[in-house]
Amino acid sequence: MTAYPALCSALLTAVFAAFLQGCTAPEPASGIPSLAQAYRGRLRLGAAVEPGQLNAPEGRLLAAQFNSVVAENVMKPSRIQPSENEFHFAPADAIVDFAQQHGMTVRGHTLLWYKRTPDWFWSDKDGQPASRDLVLSRLRQHIEAVVGRYKGKVYTWDVVNEVIDPAQPDCLRHDQWLQVVGPDYIDWAFRYAQAADPGARLMINDYSTTLPAKRLCLQHVVQGLLARGVPVHGVGHQMHISIFEPAVAEVDETLAVFARLGLENQITEMDMSLYQRHAYLLPDSLDRLLPLQGQRYEALMKVFLSHPELTAVTWWGISDAHTSRNAGWDWWRSDAPLLFDSQQHPKPGYWGVLKAVQGLSPSVR
Ligand code: XIL
Repeated sequence: MTAYPALCSALLTAVFAAFLQGCTAPEPASGIPSLAQAYRGRLRLGAAVEPGQLNAPEGRLLAAQFNSVVAENVMKPSRIQPSENEFHFAPADAIVDFAQQHGMTVRGHTLLWYKRTPDWFWSDKDGQPASRDLVLSRLRQHIEAVVGRYKGKVYTWDVVNEVIDPAQPDCLRHDQWLQVVGPDYIDWAFRYAQAADPGARLMINDYSTTLPAKRLCLQHVVQGLLARGVPVHGVGHQMHISIFEPAVAEVDETLAVFARLGLENQITEMDMSLYQRHAYLLPDSLDRLLPLQGQRYEALMKVFLSHPELTAVTWWGISDAHTSRNAGWDWWRSDAPLLFDSQQHPKPGYWGVLKAVQGLSPSVR
C-alpha cells in the first residue's frame, strides 16, 4: 500500500518530464553537412513522417538532411479511405505539399496491405461477404483515386506491401486478399496503379528480404509478375534490422538477385535496433552500442552505393524521438535505431552514413 504514493509520484514526474521535453523540443543541430547533399547524384535519401512533425523541429531536420519523404501512416488504405468513397486526403496532402515546398520527392506507401485494408472492403451493401468482382472494383477505385490525386507528385508507389509468406507452398500470404480474389489480386493492383499514373515507379515491398527462404519466394513471385507482363519496376526492402543481423553479405546477395532480374531496388523503411531479437534489455552500454551502429550503417551504405540499380534509401523515422521500434509490444524499450538522437543531434550512425560516401570519386549517376 505504502508503495503507491511513491509509484504515482515517479510516474507523474516521468509524464511531466516527457511533456516538458515535448514542449521544449530543441532545434536540430546546424552546421553539419546535409546527407542528401552528400549523396546527391548517387542515392535519394528519405525519411518517414507523420503530418504533426512537419511544422516542428523534426520537420526542419527532415528538410535539412533528406530529399525524399514517405507518409508513415496517412496514405495507408484504412487512413485515406476509412469508409467507402470517403477520402481523408488532408493529412497526406500536407506531406506532399511540404515535399514540394522543399524540393523533395515523395514515396507512396502503400496501396494494398493486409494489415490496413479497411473492413468495408470485405462486405457488400447487404452485409454479405463481398464477391471477388466487388473487391477488385473497390481496389481499382481506391487506386485510381489515390494514385490519380498524387499523379506526378508521388514518384514511386509501394503497390503491395508484405504479400510474401515463405511458409506457404505458393509463397503468398494466405490473407483475405488471396482467399477472396485469388493470387491475381497482386497483378491487378499493379495494373490499376499503372493505368492511374503511367509515369510512376511501381514496387513490391516486403520485410526480411535478406532471409534466404523469403528472398527465394519473393524472387519466385516477382518472376511470375514479369512473365505475365505485370508492370512491376522494383523491389522495396523494408530493412527493419538490428546491429546483430542480417550479415552485410546477405544484404548484398538479396540486392544482386533482383538486380539480375533487371529490377530497381530501394531500401524503404530502414532502422537498426540496438536490441537482440525479443530481448528485454540492451546488450551493452550505449557508449559501446552506438559506435557499433555507426560502423554497421557505414558498411551497409557502402553496399548500397555499390549497387547501381539501388536508387533510394528511406529511414523509418527522422530521429529517435519518434520511432516505431518503441511502439506496440516494444513500447517499454528505449531503442535508438535512427541517425539522429531524440534531441535531433547526429549519432555515430549519421557520421557512418556520411563517411560511406566521402572519398568516392565525384562521378555521378
Ligand atoms: C507502422 C507505423 O510505423 C506505425 O506507426 C503503425 O502503427 C503501424 O505501421 N512495415 C510497414 C510500415 O510497411 O507501414 C509499418 O509502419 C512498419 C512495418
